[in-house]
Order: sequence, then C-alpha cells, then structure tokens
Amino acid sequence: MKEKQEKRVDSQERMKWWNEARFGMFIHWGLYSVLGRDCWVMHHERIPKEEYAELADKFCPPKEFTPELWVKLAKEAGMRYMVLTTRHHDGFCLFDSKVSDFTSVKTKAKRDFVAEYVNACRKFGMKIGFYYSLLDWRFPAYFKGPEKDPEGFEQMVEQAHSQVKELMTNYGKIDYLFYDGEWIPGVPFNRDLINQGESPEIAKLWRSKELNRIVRELQPHIVINNRSGLAEDVDTPERFAIPSDKDRAWESCMTIGDNWGYVDREPAIKSVVQLIQYLVICASGGGNFLLNIGPDPDGSIRPEFIAILQEIGKWLEKNGESIYGSERVNRGFACHMAGMWWAPLGSVTAKGNVVYIHVFHWPKDGRITITGIKNEVLKAKILATKKEVKVEKMGEGKISISGLLKEPPDPYDTVIALELDGKPEVFDYREMSL
Ligand code: GLC
Repeated sequence: MKEKQEKRVDSQERMKWWNEARFGMFIHWGLYSVLGRDCWVMHHERIPKEEYAELADKFCPPKEFTPELWVKLAKEAGMRYMVLTTRHHDGFCLFDSKVSDFTSVKTKAKRDFVAEYVNACRKFGMKIGFYYSLLDWRFPAYFKGPEKDPEGFEQMVEQAHSQVKELMTNYGKIDYLFYDGEWIPGVPFNRDLINQGESPEIAKLWRSKELNRIVRELQPHIVINNRSGLAEDVDTPERFAIPSDKDRAWESCMTIGDNWGYVDREPAIKSVVQLIQYLVICASGGGNFLLNIGPDPDGSIRPEFIAILQEIGKWLEKNGESIYGSERVNRGFACHMAGMWWAPLGSVTAKGNVVYIHVFHWPKDGRITITGIKNEVLKAKILATKKEVKVEKMGEGKISISGLLKEPPDPYDTVIALELDGKPEVFDYREMSL
C-alpha cells in the first residue's frame, strides 16, 4: 500500500509540467525529408536500404541552420514543449551512436542535431521531448518476424535498447520520451487498444519493461508515452482529438498539413481556427495537443506554417489562461455548454472556479445563452478585451450574457471567462426540461 502511494506521488510530480503545458511542437525531420514524399517513403516505395542510405549524402543543411529556429517558433506559438524524431522507422539517427554508422554525425552533415536541438530547447526554456522509433526497416528480421529470424530480431531489439540508453545518458535531463514503431508484423496490434492499456506480446518482444526501467533510472522525472506496448504515462491518439474518458494523461498528435514529414506540396494545410479548435478540445478534456510540422530538408520551415503558428501564439497571448493548466471538463457539462459533440457556440475549458466559454460561432444579436450550470456566476469577462460583460440569471441553470458587440472581439475564438462560486457543477442534460 505504502509503495503504491509513493509511486502515485512520484507520477503526479513528474506529470506536473505536462498538465500545465497543453501545447507542444512535434517535428518530423530526417533523410526522408530530402525526397519530399513523407516519412514512410522508404516503405511505401520499397526502396532498398543501400539505395536509401545514399540520401545521407544529400542530407546536409547549411551551416547557418540551427534548431533554434524551430524552438523560437514554438515559443512564439505559445508551445511549452517539443518532440523531435531522433530516429524514425528508417533507422537514420540525428544523434551520435556507438552502435550505428547510419547517423547524421557519421555521414555528410557531420552534426549531432539532437545535441543542437537540446541546447536550443534549454536556451529558450522549452521542455525537451525525444521521439524514437523502436522498429528499423533496415533489418530483414523485422519483416521475417522473431520466430523465423530470432537472431536478427534480437539484434534490432538490442540496437534499440542501446540507442535509447544513449539518448537517455548523453543529453542531460530529458522531459519526455515518445516511443513509436512498436508494431511488429504478424503480432496482434491495435493502437486504439493500446491507447486503452497494455499490449503484452509487443512489450515482451521489445523487452519494454526492462528498457523503461532503465529509462526511469537514468531519467527519474521523464514522462513516457504508451507506444512501447506498455501503458506508462500518456495515451497518444493520433490525427484525432476526442477527450479520453479514462482518468489518464493523454495527448493528441496532429499534422498541420496531411503529412508528418516534409512533402513538396501541402494542399490542405489546416487553418488557424481549426487548429485552435483542436487545442481547445484537447484542453477541455485535460489533454495536450502536439502539433506536427515537417521542416524542409535544409531545416527551414515553410512560411505558411510559420504564419499560422504565429497567429496561434497571438491568440494564446490573450487567451492562454483558458488553456494552460486546464482541468478535465465533465462531458455532460461540455455538451451543455454547447460543447464538443455538437457546437452551437463552441467549446468549454475550465480551471478551478472558472469556466471558459470558447465562442467559435459568435451570435449576431449580441446575446449568448448558456444552460446547465448549477453554480452562481459571480463575474463574466471577455479575455480578448479584458472587459467585463453583463451576465444575468434567467432561471435555474440558465444564464444570459448580453450587450455583446456584433462582431466577435477575437476573429478566431472569443473566450468568455465565467467566475463561479465554486467548482463547476452541472445538471445532467438528459434530465433538463424546457
Ligand atoms: C505513426 C506513423 C509515424 C509517425 C507517427 C506519429 O505511428 O507510423 O510515421 O511518426 O505516427 O505519431
């Protein structure tokens, strides 16, 4: 019992920054960026590993490029942490490794980009995340499977263990380990199920228990995601944002365009308001939003991405208190407040005694009606203008905010902060009559 309690305190402690952060930058960058056809190009186009390896001669960003560019942009966007692909499924490392020559240090670029990234994060006070793919397509044993080629498979597992240890040893304090690529051909795998818990067969093959024990020894404060076949700290829904029902930390990762890695053309870049909506949805469920960009092969970031991220940053400057450190909103509450599942107004986030109404659909008649809150509303304020607005009780569980401008004070999402007389409490919407 005692042991259990201690463990919980420990996890609360290491999740503290995580629960405050809410918004992070994901970066997919590696050899595949040179081809401009996303990070799965080696697999999709069945490029033999020898031919693929030649890309290393072309992966050589100019001297002037420094990951500070990424970190500064993340900072400007209001992001609180970053996750860089230290190694993707192609096996190419952006760090120095004793167990592989297929690295940016030992090929043309001759640079340890992970070290540069870590230094830049530290300089700008950004929490540091490492993405690491357990699988490596260059091993035929990966495709043959552990039964047909146990030795080859073990070599791949051994390489992963050694490299994760290198990453956890050589770069100082690391805040977040984002595993990926845990699936193994022929072994039952369902990421949705994994988001719900553990996947014992996969974990056994990667020897994940042993690995994560070592990781935690080396980095006692690290947060670990659920992609080593073990649940660990964080669930990781991908490309969708729906608040998790479970009482677990979660993070939705999302592409800004259609892809993770660099592509020559991005015809469907998400808009500022779409991305703010995702962020709000995550925050409303007490989760984080990890937004991915795939820099060009030379490390630069497309101007369209930069402009969007800067706009989100400006929005967060005014409205950040509704996002950072947000607490999970009761689902019924969110529904009531015109929340996540259908959205006459927008969505809701909350912290302490304050609920934040995110009005994406600003009404033109200057009045907003909100139903379902049991509490008394003490004060209402628009975050964008810092002005108080008039709030009236219209009956049990019904309030009205009036005297609003015709045009939304914020072009993307106007946030109205309602200060309540206590922690938000709601009526069950199914039991409410007209
Ligand atoms: C998937 C993809 C991988 C990508 C990751 C991001 O697992 O296989 O390419 O890096 O999602 O979460």
